[in-house]
Amino acid sequence: MWGGKGTREMAVTRCVCREVSFERIARLAAELRAAGVEPDAEMMRSMTGCGTGCGTCMPYVAEVVRTGRVSLEVIPGSPQRPAGGGGP
Ligand code: FES
Repeated sequence: MWGGKGTREMAVTRCVCREVSFERIARLAAELRAAGVEPDAEMMRSMTGCGTGCGTCMPYVAEVVRTGRVSLEVIPGSPQRPAGGGGP
């Protein structure tokens, strides 16, 4: 799953600005699906406040909603630093 040495500490697990964990987002997305609502990242933003700071986490939030994964690798080509990830 991990790309190699040093990648684990670069896992992205939350919106740092608003302290919203991806676990919370995944749980909320699952609850919405169970209620017959198809969630998306914008919905998560309005419901939790994630993404309302720097906005860096939004591609990750979309991935959490899409896959249910709560610990994500840095998205290649992302122009911004990952939320909660380490630097080079
Ligand atoms: S990390 Fe989510 S808004 Fe900044």
